Formats: sequence, structure tokens, C-alpha cells
Amino acid sequence: MAQIGIYGLGTMGSALALNLAEHGFDVAVTNREVDWIAPFIEEAGDLAARLTAEERLEAFVAALGVPRVILLMIPSGAPVDAMLAQITPLLDPGDIVIDGGNADFHDTRRRADMLSENGLHFVGLGVSGGEAGARHGPSMMMGGSAEAWAALEPILTAIGARHEGVPCVAHLGPDGAGHFVKTVHNGIEYADMQIIAEIYGLLRNGAAFSPPEIADVFAGWNAGPLRSYLVEITAEVLAARDPETGHPVVDVIKDAAGQKGTGRWTVIEALRLGQSASVIEAAVGARGWSSEKETRQAAETVLGGAVGAITASPEVLAEAFLAARMLAYAQGFRVMAAASDEYGWALDPAQIARIWRAGCIIRAGMLDTIADAFAGGAPRGELILVPEIARDLALRLPALRQVVAEAVHSGHAVPALSGALAWYDTMRRGHGTAALIQAQRDRFGHHGFERLGQAGRHHGPWRD
Ligand code: 6PG
Repeated sequence: MAQIGIYGLGTMGSALALNLAEHGFDVAVTNREVDWIAPFIEEAGDLAARLTAEERLEAFVAALGVPRVILLMIPSGAPVDAMLAQITPLLDPGDIVIDGGNADFHDTRRRADMLSENGLHFVGLGVSGGEAGARHGPSMMMGGSAEAWAALEPILTAIGARHEGVPCVAHLGPDGAGHFVKTVHNGIEYADMQIIAEIYGLLRNGAAFSPPEIADVFAGWNAGPLRSYLVEITAEVLAARDPETGHPVVDVIKDAAGQKGTGRWTVIEALRLGQSASVIEAAVGARGWSSEKETRQAAETVLGGAVGAITASPEVLAEAFLAARMLAYAQGFRVMAAASDEYGWALDPAQIARIWRAGCIIRAGMLDTIADAFAGGAPRGELILVPEIARDLALRLPALRQVVAEAVHSGHAVPALSGALAWYDTMRRGHGTAALIQAQRDRFGHHGFERLGQAGRHHGPWRD
């Protein structure tokens, strides 16, 4: 009998099936389009011996040992609900259904509730690392019951990534906890990518570096404190040439970024929880602006698109990048802490930082520092208040200020870098300007305000 079944043989599902087979698990597989199944088995080569392919859902379910473990690797949203409606009547109490897609955690919570009525465990599993990760070791963020984790832990830790021997797979909390942490992972991914794009833009348009020259800068950074998967692939991408034209590949790609929703969900949830993850917000917004290509082209004619020179050296840009990246992580962890309180998940930020150190898209040297900082107990749960991090930020802030100031002065858009700086400058002031907003609210709407050092709700002297 198969130890696990995978429904969905797209890129991620196929790669996970092969990863499981390679680690000695017997895997049942099936797919909605049945004609995908035979070519997949053929490509599996020797690993096919561990794969049981079934075309019918009933046969797929019957091929599984009990309790059954079924991993759905299908598009998120309505297809998952449709699949659950089909498959749950074939299952028995104690069986486990895993959604390995990028699902909205609200859906995951609803589905977990729904399946629990039949004694079934529904697991929301965040899987990061793209196709290569899925095939050779992804980082995995599990949300679900302790019983489901007990059954899944041996399987997931066998196929997951490891950082210096430590598995990058963990049970983070119940129901939607895993999918939410994966959503914030993607929000941070958006932020890091936007910071990189802004720095690329400053070097390219403000300092006249060519793509191969910028590739060298990023390759150099990848050997230091900025070491990360996204910096590594940025160097690779910028060095690549288009075989058709001989131009740098980056110059033949339309400058309109896609997005499937996870970055936006992070921002929506942050705002719902009364927060603002300004770097992630900037990154999501910038993707939206990027896709308005025609409007930008029209505006360039009307408004003028010239930008001035940037004198900040790659060394200064690296310091600014480090500061902004840390602030983006700090914001992501704040959103997770707020959601953890709201939904009673008891997320452990040190554990999250640890499982992001390998396998996932945002894996970065900096996560070691972050994991240690949380393990040591961050004051008020805030990374920016951890003494070593506060010290590093203070050292790097002059560079971030210089880069943002030069960019603003010369007309380069740096929404993520400036969003990071605005948040830092807001948080470092114990006394801000919101007293005026409170006074205005009271003036026009009698909303009342708190007085410093006095309990109760008060009003200003402007009432008639
Ligand atoms: C990962 C990635 C992965 C995928 C995102 C990209 O962790 O492996 O985040 O989940 O690449 O869906 O999202 P966008 O299409 O929204 O950029």
C-alpha cells in the first residue's frame, strides 16, 4: 500500500512525488487530466517502481494505506473545495488531507473546520523552493493537528531541506498557521525582490552600470552578509544573454511583474490587524504600477522620464540593502506575531526563522541572526529592539538615508527602500505627530482622545 498519495502532477506535484519516491516512500499518484499520468511515470525512470499510478479517484484512494495521507497539489481556491467535495466521501475518520498549494489561510481554517466534522484532518502546508526545492528539499510550513503532524513528521522531514543538519520543516500551529506563515514568506519575498529591483535601477539608470557589471556586483554581495538565494539568482539572471538577440535577457523582458496574490494577502491581513508592513506594501504596489505599462509610456511623454545621477557606491548600496532587508523581515515577523495573537496560534518566530534558512526562496544568511535574536528573546517581540540588530541598523542607516535621499533628489522611484526608512524613522520616535490627528478627529467628529497621563476619554475646547 502507498504511504502517501499525490493528487496533481503539475510542476510541484510531480517534483514532490519524485522526491518522496527517492526517499523510499511508496507514492500513489493521479491527476485530473489523466493523459498527464503516463508521461510522468515514464520520466520517473527507476523511481517508477515506487509509484502507483491510478486514473480513477476511487482506485487512487484504495491504493493508500490507512490512515490515508493525501497531498493535493492543485490550483488554490475553488478547485480545492471541488476536490474536497469529491474526495471526502471516500475517506474515513483519521485520514489526512493536505493542501500543499499557496492557499488563503482563511480558506484553510474553514476547510479544517469542515473536515473535522467528519473526523478528518485537514493540513495547510506551505511549500517553498520552487520546482528544484520540491524535487530536492523544500522548506515546509505545516499547519494542522498534532495527530496529523505525528503522522507526517517522518515523511516531511525526510524530503525537506536541511540547514546544517536541522530540518527546515516544522509544525507551526493549528489550521491556517502554516499557510499564513507561507503567505508572509511570500510577502517578504516580494519585498526583497523589490529592494533588489530598486538597487538594480539605481546602478543601471543612475550610475550607468551594464547588466553584466551589476551581475558582478550581486555575485560579490552573495559572498558576504547579503548572501541569499535571491541575490544569487539575480547575479545569474543579469549575466544571462538572450540567444535570439544577443542582448542581456533582462532587456528583452517586458517590465510588467505578475502576482498571484500571496503578497497582497500579507498586506491585507496586516492592515486588518491594524499594522502596516510598509516594505511589503510598497512591493505589492510597485508590481501593480509595473503592469500599467501603457499608462507609464503615455505619462513619460507628458511628464518627462529623465532621472539624474546616483553617486552612492556599490558598498553604500549594499549597506542600504542590508538595512532595508532587515526592516522588511522585521515587518513580516510583526505581522505573524499579530496574526498569532488574533488566531491563537502561538507561532514561534525563532522556529520560523530556522526553517527559512534553507530550501525556501527567501533563504538568506541574515536568517541565522534573526533566528538567534528570537531564540534569545526579542524585547516586545520586535527584531528592531534586539541590541545586536539595533546596533547593525544604526550603523547602516546613514547608507539607507543617503541612497533614499539621492534617489528622491534624482527622480528614481524607491518605494521599498523609502518605505523601510519611513517605518524606521517612525518607530524610533517615542512621541509622534498623531496627537494632531486625534485633535482633528475630535474637532470634526467628537471622537474623543486620550490625554497623556490621564485616564478616560476627553474632548478639546472647540465644541460650541
Ligand atoms: C516559493 C514561491 C512560490 C511561487 C510564488 C510566486 O516560496 O516557492 O513563493 O510559492 O513562486 O507563487 O508568487 P507570485 O507569482 O505572486 O510572484
